[in-house]
This record gives sequence, C-alpha cells and structure tokens, in this order.
Amino acid sequence: MFLSRLASLLLLASLCTCAPAPPPQPVDVPKLSELPLIPLPATISDGDEVSYYETYSGEMTPSSDATIGDAQRYLSERMPSLILPLQYTTSDRFAEGAYRIDFADGQIEIQAGEREGMLNAVKTLEQVLHFSGADAGAVYIAGGTIDDQPRFPYRGYMLDVARHFFPADTVKQVIDRIAAYKINHLHLHLSDDQGWRIEIKGYPRLTEVGAATEVDGTPGGFYTQEEYRDLVEYAMHKGITVIPEIDMPGHTNAALAAYPILNVEGAEVEPYIGTKVGFSTFDVDQDSVYTFIDDVVEQLAALTPGPYFHLGGDESNATDHEDYVRFVNEVQQIVRSHGKSPIGWDEVATSELAEGTIVQLWAHSEYALRAKEAGNPVLMSPATRTYLDMQYDTASRIGLHWAAYIPLDSAYLWDPATQAEGITDGDILGIEAPLWSETVRTLEDIDYLTFPRLLALAEVGWTPQERREWEDFRRRLRAQVGWLETQGVGVYESRVLE
Ligand code: ACM
Repeated sequence: MFLSRLASLLLLASLCTCAPAPPPQPVDVPKLSELPLIPLPATISDGDEVSYYETYSGEMTPSSDATIGDAQRYLSERMPSLILPLQYTTSDRFAEGAYRIDFADGQIEIQAGEREGMLNAVKTLEQVLHFSGADAGAVYIAGGTIDDQPRFPYRGYMLDVARHFFPADTVKQVIDRIAAYKINHLHLHLSDDQGWRIEIKGYPRLTEVGAATEVDGTPGGFYTQEEYRDLVEYAMHKGITVIPEIDMPGHTNAALAAYPILNVEGAEVEPYIGTKVGFSTFDVDQDSVYTFIDDVVEQLAALTPGPYFHLGGDESNATDHEDYVRFVNEVQQIVRSHGKSPIGWDEVATSELAEGTIVQLWAHSEYALRAKEAGNPVLMSPATRTYLDMQYDTASRIGLHWAAYIPLDSAYLWDPATQAEGITDGDILGIEAPLWSETVRTLEDIDYLTFPRLLALAEVGWTPQERREWEDFRRRLRAQVGWLETQGVGVYESRVLE
C-alpha cells in the first residue's frame, strides 16, 4: 500500500516535470484546410478534434535509413531543437513524391513510399507547424489528414551562373529557399558567352581564361569539381536533383576564348562581357570539338548522379541549320553514351530527337508538338510566364522585359496543359522557372526576382489545376511572405498582395 502510494507519487512527480499541464487551447485554432500552405496540397480532410502536441527541445539523431533520414535531418535543421511525437511509416501504395500526414490524438503520422515523398511530407509539416505556432514551443493543431501528390514529377529552378557567377555558398542558400516549396530540380547554366564555370580536368584554360570574366567585366569565378560535387550532395539531401548545362553549339564564346581550336578556322576571340546572344558557335565539322564535348560530358556525368544532362542548343544563330541538326544529333548520342538523358532548349526539336531527349519549351511553343510526335516529354518554361529575370512591372529595379513583364498574377494564372497546341498533362514532365543573370549580381538580387513569383510557379507545378484559385493563393501568399521576410529573404513588394 505504502509502496504503491510512493510509486504513484513518484509517477506524479515525474509527470509534473516531464509533462506540465497543456496551456489553454486558443479559441481560434485554424483548421488544416485554413492554413496558408504553398504549394496547396491535393487533398486536405479536416477532422473534428483539435489536439495538443507536446514538443521537446533537444538533439535528434536521424535514422541511417535514407528513406526517412533525410526527412528527419531536413526538419531538424529547419526547426532546430524541436522534437515532436512523430512517426514515419513506409508504404508501397504511394506514387512518386506522394505522402500522407495524419494529425490525431497528439500524434503525427507520416506515410510515403520513398525518400522524396518523406521529404515532401516534412516540407508540408514544417509549414503546418510554423503557422500553428510551433516555433514558440507547444502547439495545438487541428486534426485531419493531408493526402498529397505532385501534378508533375519535375518542378525546377534554373540559375544562370555564367552571366554572373554565384559562389557555392550562395547557391546553397538558394537551394534552402527553393527546397521549402518542393522545387526538386536545380538546373545550373554552367557556361555561356560570358563565362565557363566548372573545372574540367585536362582543360585548364577553361577556368584560367573562360571563367575570368562575367557581364560588365567584373571578375567571374568557377566551381572546382570538389565544390560542384559538394553542391550536388547538399541539394540531394534536400530533395533536389542538380542538372548541369553546357550550352552549345552557340553561347560558347568563353570556351572559344579559352581554346580557339574549338572555333571555326581556329579563330582567336576576346572574352565577352556584353549581353548580346547568337554570335558564337563551335566548329561543328571538327573531330576535336566532339572529343572536347565527350570529355566534358564524361566528367560532368561522373560528378552528377541525377539522370539528366542539359546540352543547351538555343539561339545558335551563328550555326547553319543543317550543321546545327547534325551537331545536336551527335551530342545527344554523346550524352546518352555517358548514361544521361539529354535536355535541350526547344530548338533541339528541329533535330532528330533521340529517345528520351527532353524538350524545354521557352519560346517556340510549336516545337512541343514535334517532341510529342517523336514520343518525347516536354518541360514547360514559357518565357512569358516562368522567366524570373523578366521584370514584374516598369518599376522593377532589375531584370529585363524582352519576353514580357511578369507580375505575380501572370506567373500564377496559367495552365501548363493549355500552353502548347496538342499538349496535355501526360506529355509534360513538369515546369521550370529560369533565372537568367544579366542584371543579377547578388543573393539580394536573386531573392528580389525569385520571390514571391517562385511560390506561384511552385504551385502551378504541384497543385491540381482545379484546386488553384487566385484569391485563395493571395491569402496564403501574404502569410508566406511575412514568414520569408522573418527569414531574411527579400521579397518584391508586389502590389497584388496589398
Ligand atoms: C533562352 O532563353 N535563350 C533559352
């Protein structure tokens, strides 16, 4: 009797230290479907109950199981020292990237089929926790279930590191920002007329000469192979596949300045610091050009575990069309021989598309049908909707407007499935938002043009078309913008948010 009383007192004492009474429940706990989640999940079912979730502060050791380890690491990095009653369950009934989160009885259960689904789940969970006040400690969260999967498997962001170079640390900060919105591909535009940005063993002048410049003549830079490998791995842990692009046969002045042998008649050229396009070309008749490309693709393929290699192919105005077709046909085979699927800007659809070559639509929507007829997927980057270097409006401090001004609503109010004649969801791999960097010099500049438009594009790529609604997006975006600002992400003050 005495012993059991003592035991229950001890138990009570221990309960008192570990589990203080929950704070009173606020009257206005939002339903799951009212939270400002972006991208909006495919399905949110509200439950009847609100639960108290006891949180702890401390270190969490991620599982060595890669399926959930990266998700656990992601959440603990984003919400340091917050530990929750959270259970991860793997199930094979989920499609790629899909997941489910159940909130009930003070327990959160995440289910997904694989690593990407788990990562997507914790990215949603972070938003649920943040907007439920978990950053401040204990939380009440409305019960219910989020059952979600992406509309398109590929949601991309492109950073032009050629026109202006961005050091690896800046790229990591960009990765952190875009990963939170379930962007799962980062396309690095690694070469152009103004700069060559990746170390290639055996070709030292690419970086000694080709990397020395950038637009306006400021010093450029490049990634060593070690830095590039580290970036790829950093991105991978956050659910992002890196795609290297070497643009060719045009947009190659930096390579030609480094190695004139690649140029027509071996002509020497000066480094270029302007912003014109369409004036350079590899000599497509020379064996040494293909040897060079084979070496570059081989090294980049070995450094890049993802399935893609981007061969550029745009604006090759200095290459005869017949030569262009022959060149693109050949380079597709080189890329495939190194185990990668080629991606090319939409002009590559005028060549003979190899099996699996992805056509990235940017300016010529009529080429989408050629891709489809060849049985090849289309990646949607219409310049008038997705080009983040386009100015928002005439007051934008940086950016260009040759394709369009793209205010926030214009970035949101379009449907990839009605963008090109004869092309529907099944033909589309996904969407990508490119940031060309002629006017972009710093992380502040990147933020200014990227946010908040990337959130609109992230939702275009993720959320079913029939679920997307402008006024509701605007409501959710206002809350997200406030959060981005507290994280130090500079956001363009779009009038449509007022
Ligand atoms: C491009 O904007 N030249 C692909």
